Amino acid sequence: MFDRDTEGVRIELRSLTKHYPGQPAPAVDNVTLDIPAGELVVFVGPSGCGKTTTMKMINRLVEPTSGEILIGGQDVLSLDPDQLRRHIGYAIQQVGLFPHQTIAQNIGLVPNLLGWPADRISARVDELLSLVNLEPSAFRDRYPRQLSGGQQQRVGVARALAADPPVMLMDEPFGATDPITREHLQNEFVKLQKQLRKTIIFVTHDFEEAIKLGDRIAVLREGSHIAQYDTPAAILADPADEYVASFIGQDATLKRLALMRVSEVSATGSPAGSGLPQVSADASLREALDIMIAHGADRCATPSGVLTYAALCEAVGTRAGEQEDVVSSER
Ligand SMILES: Nc1ncnc2c1ncn2[C@@H]1O[C@H](COP(=O)(O)OP(=O)(O)O)[C@@H](O)[C@H]1O
Ligand SMILES: [Mg+2]
Repeated sequence: MFDRDTEGVRIELRSLTKHYPGQPAPAVDNVTLDIPAGELVVFVGPSGCGKTTTMKMINRLVEPTSGEILIGGQDVLSLDPDQLRRHIGYAIQQVGLFPHQTIAQNIGLVPNLLGWPADRISARVDELLSLVNLEPSAFRDRYPRQLSGGQQQRVGVARALAADPPVMLMDEPFGATDPITREHLQNEFVKLQKQLRKTIIFVTHDFEEAIKLGDRIAVLREGSHIAQYDTPAAILADPADEYVASFIGQDATLKRLALMRVSEVSATGSPAGSGLPQVSADASLREALDIMIAHGADRCATPSGVLTYAALCEAVGTRAGEQEDVVSSER
């Protein structure tokens, strides 16, 4: 049974439909989607297209009108909803921390419900606070109102992870934070997921966030219809239609540069004594380009050699005649 797993399990949606009573059209219309175990899949689409409804059917906060949901091969609709929800982490934009409980009590909510002994809960709370970069001794006994919005969202993520569920549903979990905090949370979350390998469905209306976090992205239109379902690189390289292209905007090449690392492109020669600007192996090609532009140089030094502007263009598949655009595109 999937509730014994802590690493990700596969999620399958089969002809999933939700028609709210009194609404002219289904909010979610006949959606079929396969989410591989251990992957982070982002649902991205405009407000009202059915993202939240799709997600809430998976933990049965909303009952489907028709269709099937399988988690780890198990039919979700045959399980007890309360039981089910204890094995699916859920983090939402509004965070939903209990105001009169301490941070430790908030994070320990599900483990407590599952009857874990007090010392195990307390150890888990401290482990999770450290994981989301909040010093346990400083935060465990505080109340939610004593935390900033960004700190509360980290607690929300920690709470969703508390019972080490194989599946996490995250509905715009960083949406309420300012851009700098959000970027910080995204970076931490990418690192965290590399360790955890949970199956995560992450909802956002922010395509940049989708590219940054997703192993795969489902671009949704009205009725949760899937316009394209693929890796960020594949969607950027080859959007399925005008609708998908409109999410990407004008700077697909720059977005693809941001997805690729300096270490993925072959460097040539030795930079020794060249005086070229330095980039690290794990910098993105976008960062390398920024450094080249800032130094007025068409090449830079990497730990393994010299990375040229031409090599960078080749890496993103820009043809010679289009090279101007890479530099002059709006940022
Ligand atoms: N409880 C509800 N009752 C009736 N209609 C709803 C309810 N929740 C959502 N809807 C409608 O379903 C559609 C999809 O909503 P939602 O899933 O919240 O979209 P998203 O998360 O993409 O913004 C919208 O038209 C919304 O108004
Ligand atoms: Mg929503």
